Amino acid sequence: MSKQVLVTAALTYANGPAHLGHVLEAIQTDVYVRARKMLGDDVIWMWAADTHGTPIMLRARREGITPEELVARSHAEHLADYRDFGLGFDIYYTTHSPEDRAHCEAIFGALKQRGHTDVRAVEQLYSEQDEMFLPDRFVKGTCPNCKSEDQYGDNCEVCGATYSPTDLLDPYSAVSGDKPVLRDSPHVFIKLESYADYVREWARPRAEGGGSDLRPEVRNFITSFLEKGLRDWDISRDKPYFGWEIPGHPGKYFYVWFDAPIGYIGATEKWCRDNGRDFDSYWKNEGGDTEIVHVIGKDIQYFHCVFWPAMLHGAGYTPPSRVQVHGWLMVNGTKMSKSRGTFILARTYLDHLSPDYLRYYLAAKLGADQNDLDLNMEDFANRVNADLVNKLANLASRSIKFIVGRLGGRLGAPAEDAAPLLERARERFAEAPALYAEFESGKALRVAMEIADDLNVYMTEAAPWKLTKSDPERARAVNAAAVYASKLIAAILKPVIPSWAEKMERMLKLEAPMTFANAADPIPPETVLGAYETLAERVQTKTLDAIIEAGRQQAAAESAEDPAATSHDYEVEALSDEVGIEAFGPVDLRVGSVLECTGVKGARKLLQLTVDLGPLGKRTIFSGIAKSYPDPAALVGKRVAVFANLKPRTMKFGVSEGMILAAGASDDAVTVVELDPRARPGERIT
Ligand code: MSP
Ligand code: ZN
Repeated sequence: MSKQVLVTAALTYANGPAHLGHVLEAIQTDVYVRARKMLGDDVIWMWAADTHGTPIMLRARREGITPEELVARSHAEHLADYRDFGLGFDIYYTTHSPEDRAHCEAIFGALKQRGHTDVRAVEQLYSEQDEMFLPDRFVKGTCPNCKSEDQYGDNCEVCGATYSPTDLLDPYSAVSGDKPVLRDSPHVFIKLESYADYVREWARPRAEGGGSDLRPEVRNFITSFLEKGLRDWDISRDKPYFGWEIPGHPGKYFYVWFDAPIGYIGATEKWCRDNGRDFDSYWKNEGGDTEIVHVIGKDIQYFHCVFWPAMLHGAGYTPPSRVQVHGWLMVNGTKMSKSRGTFILARTYLDHLSPDYLRYYLAAKLGADQNDLDLNMEDFANRVNADLVNKLANLASRSIKFIVGRLGGRLGAPAEDAAPLLERARERFAEAPALYAEFESGKALRVAMEIADDLNVYMTEAAPWKLTKSDPERARAVNAAAVYASKLIAAILKPVIPSWAEKMERMLKLEAPMTFANAADPIPPETVLGAYETLAERVQTKTLDAIIEAGRQQAAAESAEDPAATSHDYEVEALSDEVGIEAFGPVDLRVGSVLECTGVKGARKLLQLTVDLGPLGKRTIFSGIAKSYPDPAALVGKRVAVFANLKPRTMKFGVSEGMILAAGASDDAVTVVELDPRARPGERIT
């Protein structure tokens, strides 16, 4: 029976453009939505931009525009990016909408009426210059634990301590540098403890009479949260704030995390009205059959798995039936980083490569677990080329081209001797829908790969190309078996690469779009196949290099625009006296490649490097940069600038045969001068 399903991806924060981390989540959501539609379910994907809060207010202020303008710009960018990634959402709305506001007020009103809200004074840092209370991330100061300077108000990046902003020593406003004062302000709270039993019950498996389908790790997360006791949740922020003012509490605004998930509801209301559908059947159907499925990253679990079900239940809305939590997208083995060029915007990728390849690569690596997932550019090229091009596309291309090009195009029936193989392929194919429905896209795609492997072996053994003249009907039958298997494969690929399936539907002259129910039907033997349409093309490594390079340039351009990055609140040495070019002559700088880099026992400041100068041989160099490079191995493989004719210096630990160039005023803030990786070791730097 067809089920009514509402799916969401987390609402992208509107203070900037979408990046590949967002795209990962969107692809996971899209594949799930498309697969469930292929299963015959009635699925909608409700999505929006998350538009409120201090970061957006301050960014707009910095850019000299209104928050509404900033949000409208981000919304348009998100929408274009997500469309161009081929994502099949039904609406990309905004939380800055009348629907969002109305449901915020309704939910808050219901909780208040039940006596589950409270008002209490909160002591907070207030900046008189900024005329605002400073949120945690907008206060900086000295860590109370390790005394490191310039740490954020919620935790220390040096020692990892967590604290509240009022614990900071010498706090200052990250907005203006102003010294804040402590001030009391009444805040509105939700008494979450009243919902602890409900949340515990909701988190139990639906199969056992509980309220949700969750992975064990998500359930454990909730349980450990509940064990600690639910503290009241502060849902108000003082003005100035970009968001909704709380009815009955002038000057107080709903905290962005209160109104953000309500954006799912607001989007649904808008969509239902525009499409003549019944809103209540989705969100006012607690205990009914409608499924509400959220896809989120692991950083926002507790909002979705603790606060959210409590709010919904308290106000008589439908709680989610499933929350799918994915891991973090890494690029080339590390967290996305602007300086490495691995902080890649959705648009940067789209400028270089078809979304199909990333959709395939990520879907092939994704499962229902929370493991982080690495977009390794080399592996990306290999997988796409080996799996998609050489295996899956190749099977379809060789068989269709053969029949069309050499046998007049009529398909014919699959060969008798392929029958057991095709039977097995059908059995395997039948596993794919349930895998997709459990967010196991990687496993589903592996089924397609195995079917292709079997058929490729069969084709090689049957060698139809040797039979074109001697036994054309046998050649046709062998190829027809491969075409049939390619149809099953295309159906498995359809949620991931819809265009692939559409091309197959055209080539095979299928009357109806493929679903999981009809894809295994035989293809009428009298079918005359359409001309082959290219299903996938090889990905070049240089395209991927260009994406990283563009990411790097993008980040550099952005930091040049960012006033925070260009406000020179530090001092540098005065410039030396002017000299002629000849002054540079005696200094012989060379390109070096770092082969090894380790700490030095007994010398906390030093690192020992082995540097390759190409035809000039290797050098051992001691460098006083250890405090700035807690992970010395990070330097291995880097191209550095070496003062190569510097007289060797005998130290306690060995002889240092040169110096590597670096910038930075203090030991713990040194950066080594890195050269373009194309520079060849030994080359002179002039
Ligand atoms: N606005 C909130 C969500 C509100 S939902 C009611 C938010 N926005 S976000 O833009 O910061 O992140 C949106 C989603 O992208 C989150 O689920 C987050 O976990 C996910 N990701 C952000 N960076 C990511 C990676 N690098 N990798 C994978 N997912 C990542 O949170
Ligand atoms: Zn610290």
